[in-house]
Amino acid sequence: MIDVVDVWKSYKSGTRTLDALRGVSCTIEKGRFAFIVGPSGSGKSTLLYLLGAVDRPSRGRILVEGRDLTAMSEAEQNDYRRDTVGFIFQSFNLISNLSAVENVLIPFMPRGVTAEQRARAVDLLKRVGLGDRLDHHPYQLSGGEQQRVAIARALVKQPLVVLADEPTGELDSKTGDEIYRILRSLQESLETTLVVVTHDRRFITPQDLVLEIQDGLLADDAEPAAGFATGLHAAD
Ligand SMILES: Nc1ncnc2c1ncn2[C@@H]1O[C@H](COP(=O)(O)OP(=O)(O)O)[C@@H](O)[C@H]1O
Ligand SMILES: [Mg+2]
Repeated sequence: MIDVVDVWKSYKSGTRTLDALRGVSCTIEKGRFAFIVGPSGSGKSTLLYLLGAVDRPSRGRILVEGRDLTAMSEAEQNDYRRDTVGFIFQSFNLISNLSAVENVLIPFMPRGVTAEQRARAVDLLKRVGLGDRLDHHPYQLSGGEQQRVAIARALVKQPLVVLADEPTGELDSKTGDEIYRILRSLQESLETTLVVVTHDRRFITPQDLVLEIQDGLLADDAEPAAGFATGLHAAD
């Protein structure tokens, strides 16, 4: 379970301070598919990267399975990022001179890859439909295929939490559909907690948790927009 407790994130530039998050609290249960949605600049990526301990909140606490990310040392945060979290980026971030299977194995490379780990990488590539592309290099793969390699890489260490920042942002809509189908089937079978930042709400199903951010606040806490009360209630 992920517990976000009154999290603020402020960025200072010169004399100005920008509050990207202004007191966000939420709970994401283990094994949940959670979406972070909201307009551009609302704080979605900021929240996602705080969950990944890529950065620290200015205030508040983030607990993952009871461990307080904000109380961790730099070294503990490194371990957390390495062992507990899988990241999926908009831009795939594959290494061009490595094959698909080698790219999936990157998280294991610092300590040397075992046969078992290699088998797991191959299995994951098969599950994302790339069983016949194991030795292809990124330039030999389409964008959707590259993102599938990146998904396999994010999952190869069986992380507790997978964080994805607009994973279909650089893909056409048909390929995007396919990526979400794959993410959902993996999330269900591996029982991973998956938190995805997206602009596109058509992949959200009623069982999913939706965290709607506006201007650094979750929608439930947000001030209703001007005209909201009259406008919406007149309609119902
Ligand atoms: N490292 C940073 N330094 C200064 N401002 C930042 C930084 N990262 C994000 N911001 C600002 O914080 C706000 C939220 O950004 P972000 O979380 O990236 O929004 P989103 O992902 O919803 O588009 C934006 O106004 C953005 O310009
Ligand atoms: Mg963003």
